[in-house]
Amino acid sequence: MTDTDKIVNYLRENLSEKRFKHSLGVAEEAKRLAGHYFADGEKAYLAGLVHDCAKEIPETEAKKLLRDKYKIVIDPVSMNTPKLLHGPLGACMAQSEFGIFDAEILDAIKYHTTAKADMSLLTKIIYMADYIEPNRTFDGVEELREQAYDNLDRAIITGLDFTLSELISDGHMLHPDTVHARNFLLMQKKRR
Ligand SMILES: [Fe+2]
Ligand SMILES: [Fe+2]
Repeated sequence: MTDTDKIVNYLRENLSEKRFKHSLGVAEEAKRLAGHYFADGEKAYLAGLVHDCAKEIPETEAKKLLRDKYKIVIDPVSMNTPKLLHGPLGACMAQSEFGIFDAEILDAIKYHTTAKADMSLLTKIIYMADYIEPNRTFDGVEELREQAYDNLDRAIITGLDFTLSELISDGHMLHPDTVHARNFLLMQKKRR
């Protein structure tokens, strides 16, 4: 059995069917984007596959694992926004459960929800693939898909705008990394 098969089996057993399909969708989309932007397709596939491995771990257990097992200090916004825990936790689990030690893959998993300033191409690809994988059906997904293959940075700004607006209208906190990600890309765009 290859390492990828082992990961697929783990995900099939530990995730809901919907999230399992989503993970395969993100892996495929990430590989496609990598092909388009001359990134490493194998790394993109693997990062996409694993990105949500920690998503269904209940909040209390996730916090306990991060604190006691992985000894990771989590920032206050993530501590108060449970769905942000699965990025950093997923990166820890990718190492301990799946033996993935590639820093670029781990970074892409860690920041796939919040994004951050100055992302690597692989981190950008996973952020975008999570948004536009084939199972996604939200309003505007087709336009975003087109944009993602036309101008990745612009598509990420669109995604960040959408996420931030939604967080604000729902009364949620904004993670500083998400704000930094958007500022960074806007500043870069201005300089061009
Ligand atoms: Fe996620
Ligand atoms: Fe996801």
